[in-house]
Amino acid sequence: MGKVILTGDRPTGKLHLGHYVGSLRGRVELQNAGGYDRMFVFIADVQALTDNAANPEKVRQNVLEVALDYLSVGLDPDKVTIFIQSMVPQLHEITQYFSNLVTVARLQRNPTVKTEIKMRGFGEEGQELSFGSGVPVGFFTYPISQAADICFCKATTVPVGEDQEPMLEQCREIVRSFNSTYGPVLVEPEILLPSNTACRRLPGTDGKAKMSKSLGNCIYLSDDPSEVKKKVMSMFTDPGHLRVEDPGKVEGNPVFVYLDAFCEASDFERFWPDYASLDEVKDHYRRGGLGDVKCKKFLLNVLNDRLEPIRARRHQWEQDIPGVYDILRKGSAEAEKVAAQTLYEMREAMKINYFNDAALIAEQAEKYRR
Ligand code: TRP
Repeated sequence: MGKVILTGDRPTGKLHLGHYVGSLRGRVELQNAGGYDRMFVFIADVQALTDNAANPEKVRQNVLEVALDYLSVGLDPDKVTIFIQSMVPQLHEITQYFSNLVTVARLQRNPTVKTEIKMRGFGEEGQELSFGSGVPVGFFTYPISQAADICFCKATTVPVGEDQEPMLEQCREIVRSFNSTYGPVLVEPEILLPSNTACRRLPGTDGKAKMSKSLGNCIYLSDDPSEVKKKVMSMFTDPGHLRVEDPGKVEGNPVFVYLDAFCEASDFERFWPDYASLDEVKDHYRRGGLGDVKCKKFLLNVLNDRLEPIRARRHQWEQDIPGVYDILRKGSAEAEKVAAQTLYEMREAMKINYFNDAALIAEQAEKYRR
């Protein structure tokens, strides 16, 4: 069996550099490398609604933003099926059947659900962690829905960030449970993490562990050059590196983490011929005598070089919004076909195929014949 690649994002905001190095860049590489049967990338609006039930307009606006981000980083609708989760109704039915195979206790143990419940303040006041009345059922069960997202196309390979590992583990358990209960219909997926560890969790411009919209420390793919400049020049660095002569720390210094994630060998010749490699820059910074501003200017050149083609493509697509919706409509129809086939096989295995089963009808007719 060939490789089927699937991944997606919640449309709760524009995508930023953390998404780019953690996943988007790798998707485009996968897309262009070939060697797969099919590749799907989707906008998880149903999942976004699990904790944004009262914000449908926000989700709706961000479906387009995420679609524009996808197209602008270079996902090619001729190679990749791009679709909207809610436009593939079979996903709900698959979720329903899966939910019979998962216990409440297992969901409560899902580490991602646990931390997200804390983060979103669904827990009850004064309690360390609560699965009490504040947690919407749909949010609590979203790992099951995510398993349906992955299984509808029998995905083998799911490129996501490491925070999604518990979701994949839960999905694999559901697949094993389905196959052993009803028959070997579904496929166990594998997670695909970025090989460059600097890319697995990009820190925010403020040095906090994660680039995150709610922390306001993001550089967005759609930021214009002046915004990127403002953000880079005011980035957090090593607080102990007060004077240029002072030795500086590179580890955990976001300027260097970003350089680890973005910089290529040819960037030195083009933007900073004083150095031949990032290792040389780091050595100088550690020794002392290299100022933050110089490093930031180099980073800014590197980032703008990577972002320029993305901005140009975004600008083009922004002039053709109906065309973007056409791509999503076509992709959703294709995904629906694939989902319908998998659902057909699932229903056969689950014996809920009454109208397709002539033998069943004949057998029961025989039983009652007198
Ligand atoms: N949970 C993912 C996120 O928050 C989005 C997502 C939903 C997803 N369904 C998926 C990712 C299926 C991969 C596969 O980013």
